[in-house]
Amino acid sequence: MAKAEGSDIFAIVREMALAGFGDLEKEIIRCSDCSLREGATNPVIMKGSRTPKVLFIGEAPGRTEDMTGIPFSGRAGKKLDEMIVYMGLSGEDYAVINTVKCRPPNNRKPLKSEIAACRPFMMAQIKMLAPKVIILLGNTAEEAFCGGRELEWGTPKVAEGITILKIYHPAAMIYQRARMEEQKALIDRNRHLWE
Ligand code: URA
Repeated sequence: MAKAEGSDIFAIVREMALAGFGDLEKEIIRCSDCSLREGATNPVIMKGSRTPKVLFIGEAPGRTEDMTGIPFSGRAGKKLDEMIVYMGLSGEDYAVINTVKCRPPNNRKPLKSEIAACRPFMMAQIKMLAPKVIILLGNTAEEAFCGGRELEWGTPKVAEGITILKIYHPAAMIYQRARMEEQKALIDRNRHLWE
């Protein structure tokens, strides 16, 4: 399995998905297709169930995630955990990944080129995890998954049999209590998707 050798993303993603979680993990660990790997301590691959109903897609690892190798293990992760409790999901119900697997310097947003380099990994993860619902955490996740902006906050869309929903990134709720209330309203409107 050699990601850089093919240009057909569908074939690459299919091949990675067929190879399984272990091979995908190895491929991510040895990837150097963009410069983010140079500055990263650990690639951050996923956490949660391998048969999730709901897949959350965040932006990029931050400092804590870079140290632990676990997505959303820092402050934003505490907010995500609160959201997950509010959604009524248990550990087997969800998984969490990011658009890029390596931490961008100074927590800047990942560049379009970095997102594009990492996209086959994200798409292979989606194929393997086969969630019923994908929850995009913020605009960067939307841009990475949809290739642009096309979703309204909290308004689901079905694409190829999977429901896609964009809600706020948990980091947006760290300093703004009002945002958490808005997020809860978006969640309440969409509970039927995962319940
Ligand atoms: N923010 C993200 O988008 N992902 C993480 O893993 C942590 C913070």
